[in-house]
This record gives sequence, C-alpha cells and structure tokens, in this order.
Amino acid sequence: MKTRRSEVASALAAVGSAGLSGQRLAETLGVSRVAIAKHVTALIAAGYDIAAVRGEGYRLVSLPIDLVPVEVERLVTDPLWVCIEGAAETGSTNEDCKVLARSGAEEGTVVVAARQTAGKGRLGREWTSPEGGAYLSALLRPPCAPSEVASFAPACALGVAYGLEALGLHPRLKWPNDVQLDGKKIAGILVEMSAETDRVEWVVAGCGVNVRRSECCFQDGGFVNDVVDASPSMVAAAVLDGLARAYREYLAGGFSAMRDAYEARHTLAGVEVTVRDMTGAIVASGVVEGVDASARLVLSGPDGSVPLVAGEVTLRS
Ligand code: BTN
Repeated sequence: MKTRRSEVASALAAVGSAGLSGQRLAETLGVSRVAIAKHVTALIAAGYDIAAVRGEGYRLVSLPIDLVPVEVERLVTDPLWVCIEGAAETGSTNEDCKVLARSGAEEGTVVVAARQTAGKGRLGREWTSPEGGAYLSALLRPPCAPSEVASFAPACALGVAYGLEALGLHPRLKWPNDVQLDGKKIAGILVEMSAETDRVEWVVAGCGVNVRRSECCFQDGGFVNDVVDASPSMVAAAVLDGLARAYREYLAGGFSAMRDAYEARHTLAGVEVTVRDMTGAIVASGVVEGVDASARLVLSGPDGSVPLVAGEVTLRS
C-alpha cells in the first residue's frame, strides 16, 4: 500500500531532470497543491534533494543516501508489505516490530532503520548497526505450529538471497541463516516469535545487510557496494520482495518445497564442521551431508547421519 508521500517521490523520480509543477503533481495525485508542498518539505527533511523553482515546480536532484522508510516504500513491489514504518535511528527494529505485533498490527507491517543502537544478533549476540547498513524487521502471521518455525529462519535466509540476487549479486547460504558473499557474511537474520502450544501468533523476521563500508567497524563481512551500487533503501526493498517470495513458497509447500533452492546456494555441503550450542559446547562434528526437508543440518558422523535443529557451525580446517 503506497502512501501519498511515496507517490510524490515516485512521480518526481519518474520524470527525472524534467521536473514537475506543483499543479501537475496535485492533479495527478488528486490532492491540493498545499498538500504537495507539505509532502515535498517532508521528503527534503528525509534526505531527498529536491529543487523547488518558483514558476517551474519541483525537480528531484538526488535520492537519500541512507535508509529512509518512504524510499523503501517507494521501491518495494510486493503487495504483502502493507505498511513500512521506521526512523533514522532506533534501538532494534525487531524490538519495535514486536511492540507492533503485540498491539495487533497487520501481517506485512515492516520497521526499518538507518542505524540501530541496540541491534540484536542470533544466540544473544550484539549486531553492530552503523549507518550504511539496511536494518529491517517484518511482521508475519503464518498459520503454522510453533514446531515448524525452526525451518522458518532458513526459509527467510533464502528469501534474502532471492532479494540480493535481484540486485545482481550471487549470495550463498551458510546454515542455518547466514547469507554470504565471496565467503564473507553479508547479511544475518534473526527470527523471533510468539506462540501458543499449537499455534503461532506472530513471527518477526529481522534482517541486517552490510551495504556500504562504514567508518565504524561492521561485523567482519562483505558489503553489497563492493559488487553493485545500491543504496540501503534499494537493498531493503529488494530484500523485502525476496522475503515475500520465500514466504509465499513456505506457505504453499513448507521448507521441503524450498529445500532444493536452499541447497543450490548452500556453502557447507561436503565440508567437515563442528556445531556448537549457544554456550559454546560442541553438539556434533562431522561432514555435512546437506539440509533435510525440515531444514535440519544433516551431518555424517561416526555413528551415521545426525540431524541438527540449531547451532553455530564452524569449519574444521
Ligand atoms: C545474526 O546474528 O546473524 C542475525 C542478525 C540480525 C540483525 C537484524 S538487523 C534488523 C533486526 N533488528 C535487530 O535487532 N536484529 C535484526
């Protein structure tokens, strides 16, 4: 669902250097010229460089450098995303999205931010979130049992890969839900949920993507801008569209229907690994056979095949 503000940004982006008069914009969008002027002022405040020439109208000079909710909304195409909220800075978009989930927000509500001051990673870790990244959390309400959600995070990782592929990247997946580029982590996914015994109430799928190198230290990873020139807003919109595609595949056939697509991008097949739990204790070691229909990592150990539901994988080299 597009807001009037993102429609104003889209109309200006569509005509480029030609520009548009306030009158023309008002007529096209069915609002007053005063309303157009307010939207333009808000877009400038958000980071759009818009030249306003008396008697001529508005001309978009450049788009925002950092992630901006209205720009993500302008670029996202999948109708699953009904509302894109956010701010330049927040503690954690996952925490914000969980507040919205608890207050009954609709499936497809998204929170984005240009930076996070308390970003959360998997296994209770911190997720360093300086400007130059894309940080987003999506609220979903899948009609499934809590036991099925273990396969949801790998499904989301595949969705993030779909999104990055649409930008021209060739990401790979490291079980369960790391997204890598040239062997370096480029994106991470944190899935949180609330459930009753037999029914999921909501899932918040949070994703952080390293887009451009920043003065602050990021996780020791790769960056989208090492390969393609895309703004954090473009990356967030592409990732959201990829997540929506993966979500639809998941609802239609579960992870088993996505398994081949996941395996085709998986980096660990045939590799000797050690898997640890969140305390750092070793759970299992062996050679990775693959990922099964429930998204478990299957290791070939001394006592045969061992399926693992969760854990942190390190290579044994
Ligand atoms: C990981 O440890 O690999 C998962 C990192 C997930 C980070 C994202 S950034 C957006 C969302 N908000 C958070 O606080 N965490 C997730």
